Amino acid sequence: MYNGMLHLHSVLRWVILILLLVAVYKSLVDKNKPFTSGHRKTGLFLMITADLMLLIGVYQWITGPHGLKNIQSKGMSVVMKNSVLRFYAFEHFVGMVAAIILIHIGYSYTKKDLPDATKHKRAVLYFGLALLVILTFIPWPFREAGAGRVWFPGM
Ligand code: HEM
Repeated sequence: MYNGMLHLHSVLRWVILILLLVAVYKSLVDKNKPFTSGHRKTGLFLMITADLMLLIGVYQWITGPHGLKNIQSKGMSVVMKNSVLRFYAFEHFVGMVAAIILIHIGYSYTKKDLPDATKHKRAVLYFGLALLVILTFIPWPFREAGAGRVWFPGM
C-alpha cells in the first residue's frame, strides 16, 4: 500500500507540472482572448490533482519513514541539523502546501466575476509561482535529498 502511494505521488508530480505549464502557457498566449471553460477546466484538474498530492503526502509524512517517525525517533534537533532529514520533515511539506494554496488562489480567481484579461493575468501569476515553488521543492534525483530516487517509477 505504501509503495503504491509513493509511486502514485511520484507519477502525479509530472501530471501537476504538465498541467501547470499548460495553464500558464494557455493564459499567456490567450491573454487578449476570452477566458473559456477550457482554461477553467485546466485549473480545476490542476487543483484536484494538487489536493490528491496533499492527501497522499500527508499519509506518507505520517506513516512513512521520512516524516513524523524521524522526528519522533531522532528528535527535532537532529532532524533540523541534517539537510536531508529536514527536507522531508519540513521543507518539502511546507513548500508543497504553499504551492497548493497558490493553486487554490489562482483557481478561485478564475471563478470570480472579473474581466477575462484579469483572469488570465491571475492564472499566469499564481500558477506560475506554484510552478516555481514545486520545481524548487521536488526531491529531484540530482539533489542530495533525492539521491537514489528515480525520474519516473520503474525507470
Ligand atoms: C504538489 C505537491 C507535491 C509534489 C509535486 C511532490 C513530489 C514528491 C516527489 C517527486 C517525491 C519523491 C517520490 C519518489 O521518489 O518515489 C516526494 C516524496 C515525498 N513527499 Fe511529496 N510532493 C508533493 C506534496 C507533498 C506534501 C504536501 C507532503 C506532506 C504533507 C509530501 C510528503 C512527501 C514525503 C514524506 C515523501 C517521501 C516519501 C518516501 O520516500 O517514503 N509531499 N514528493
